[in-house]
Amino acid sequence: HPFLHTAIVEKKKIYYNKKQANVKGIYEKKNNNRKDCNIMKRIGLLTSGGDCQALNAAMRGVVKGLSNNVDGLEVYGFFDGYKGLIYGKYRLLTSGDFSGILTKGGTILGTSRQPFKLMREPDENGLNKVEAMKQTYYKLNLDCLVILGGNGTQKTANLLREEGLNIIHLPKTIDNDIYGTDMTFGFQSAIDIAADVIDCIHTTASSHSRVFIVEVMGHKVGWLTLYAGLAAGADIILLPEIPYDIDKVVEAIQKRSKDGKGFTILAVAEGAISKKDAKLSKKEYKKKIESSKYPSVSYEVADLIIKKTGIDTRVTVPGHTQRGGSPCPYDRVLCSRLGAEAAQAIIDGDYGNMIAVKASKIVRVPLEKVAGKLKMVEPDSQIIKEAQFMGISFGN
Ligand code: F6P
Repeated sequence: HPFLHTAIVEKKKIYYNKKQANVKGIYEKKNNNRKDCNIMKRIGLLTSGGDCQALNAAMRGVVKGLSNNVDGLEVYGFFDGYKGLIYGKYRLLTSGDFSGILTKGGTILGTSRQPFKLMREPDENGLNKVEAMKQTYYKLNLDCLVILGGNGTQKTANLLREEGLNIIHLPKTIDNDIYGTDMTFGFQSAIDIAADVIDCIHTTASSHSRVFIVEVMGHKVGWLTLYAGLAAGADIILLPEIPYDIDKVVEAIQKRSKDGKGFTILAVAEGAISKKDAKLSKKEYKKKIESSKYPSVSYEVADLIIKKTGIDTRVTVPGHTQRGGSPCPYDRVLCSRLGAEAAQAIIDGDYGNMIAVKASKIVRVPLEKVAGKLKMVEPDSQIIKEAQFMGISFGN
């Protein structure tokens, strides 16, 4: 009977909440003697989602800022992103762990992708992941959990904030698509790599009079493709936000040939989409991609260019190299600044924020205002207009 079912669910909820309160209480009692130990801050660190350059630099920034200003610090590192928090895989880190990592790529903690939409679903053994994360947090009696990650990670960070945990989020991603910050760390380092690839392609494209497509990372947004393309002088830039018409792309190539330019460089985002495909429903588009003979959009564009122009066209995909290697100096500075401000926020006891950059200032932005939003390239923004003014084609 539906009423009976509701009553049982409610009873279970009350029981579970009581149990949780109890768990929290036990750990609070257990940790009450912390004051005698002269420990002032005990924090957790985790890196989640796809990695990028400067994750280590950012963690180092937080820890340096804290250890330099608080009287006693304990830092727990959770391994492989939220997995470490869910399954209690962590280690008490020492100052040695943060030494020499400013320039080190990857993440000393490891990372994994834990989709936000599955966070409320039990795992394969029926474990309630959110409750498990809360228990780990309370068991360690953390003052704050510092979470480094992109959009999905931020949504889970906000969920944990809503569940009552003290959270600080640091905006990481080569995609630069986190709403509420002008810049994410990893972005500038990835631009350097993608632009280097396009630079190298330039010389060989010119020798062979070929069309070259460099496929840049970014499924949903085109910031990286736009910046790398501009930085390396791409002639045509295709972004997810500006659906292309293949005939316009061909027109731009032919115009260059007519002007005596023997080669053309295209910077194409992984998520670039044709005007025709943009009209498909999500389901129809997914079906098209699954049954496509092309490994990615760039190969389809290349095939069509060859068919329509007869020009030899090649594709280069730098892929995950764009997330690898040392952070560039810009990212090292950015992460030191974000880390310092995160440390200050922890000292202030000001939680629930993303530490962001706004007009060159480091600021605290409430997670509730930004979680779930995406920062996309606006097709009529100043930077797009400037590029078009210079003759760069967006295939539209
Ligand atoms: O979000 C960062 C990013 O590198 C995207 O640019 C890219 O589309 C995606 O991750 C690749 O994900 P994965 O490393 O899981 O293949």
